[in-house]
Amino acid sequence: MRIIKNVLHMQKIALNHIKNGDEIGLIPTMGALHDGHVSLIAKSRRSDDITVVSIFVNPIQFGPNEDYLKYPRTVNKDLEVCKKNHVDYVFMPAVNDMFPSNHKTFIEVKILQDILCGKFRPNHFRGVVTVVVKLFNISCADRSYFGMKDFQQLKILEKVARDLNFKTKIIPCPIVREKSGLAISSRNSYLSVEEKKSSENIFKILKEASEDFKIRNLNFVKKNVLEKLKKIPDSKVDYAEIVDFNDLSLADKDTRKVVFVVALWLGRTRLIDNTVMIKQTK
Ligand code: PAJ
Repeated sequence: MRIIKNVLHMQKIALNHIKNGDEIGLIPTMGALHDGHVSLIAKSRRSDDITVVSIFVNPIQFGPNEDYLKYPRTVNKDLEVCKKNHVDYVFMPAVNDMFPSNHKTFIEVKILQDILCGKFRPNHFRGVVTVVVKLFNISCADRSYFGMKDFQQLKILEKVARDLNFKTKIIPCPIVREKSGLAISSRNSYLSVEEKKSSENIFKILKEASEDFKIRNLNFVKKNVLEKLKKIPDSKVDYAEIVDFNDLSLADKDTRKVVFVVALWLGRTRLIDNTVMIKQTK
């Protein structure tokens, strides 16, 4: 496994692999690697000749009052995880190599970037898309792997890859959960013992919603979930919405494949989760 810290060096290596006929898989991460990230790596190992993991805590996707500075950084452990999982290259650029002071280009995705999390985190998706597009180009990836945990991020990047004709194929990967059902996230390390316990309710509530969805109307299911989420101690709900799986528009009674997406604060930690629900046709 090689650790590459320079943007041009990484791109040169990737171009050489492409020239040799290798197919490259990219797993963009912000580090603090966990089993969710490992599942993405494993998927790439099964499909690609070369697996590149990028570790970059991307400053331009954090708002001014968000957790950029305190975001968990566990580089040594991350490198061990990558090595153990047979990653070929870990790309760990410096901030001023990715975003020198004269960087002026940003990519926006109309509408999709402004709804759901975008309403509460202005400029967040502009930052995500801009860095990911750079990573596509630097790594020359044939396939890029993204978790369904960040469902809006996944859908936005699928749209970008289509709209801008990237050769990178976006590969969605299922949410990896703890035994308790809590979706694994680097930010879970912020949770106190009590908050961790409370957070386990989120998936339970979503699972109950999937059952209700089979027999009740959307408004009932949504209202029910909102009420239950609000009852979790110390919670503040940003949103709980049922959206169309394909384009994140609000679902109606005729939408067959929907996603229940939620975002809430537990104390000072913001968590997101979702579950896909499919209407059975009679
Ligand atoms: P990060 O939060 O490190 O996540 C990297 C990738 O791992 C994302 O595609 C995310 O959806 C996936 N992931 C995280 N937790 C997961 C889980 N429990 N199950 C399955 N997949 C999971 O998302 C980002 O970083 C950044 O926004 C990034 C795309 C790297 C751009 O900076």
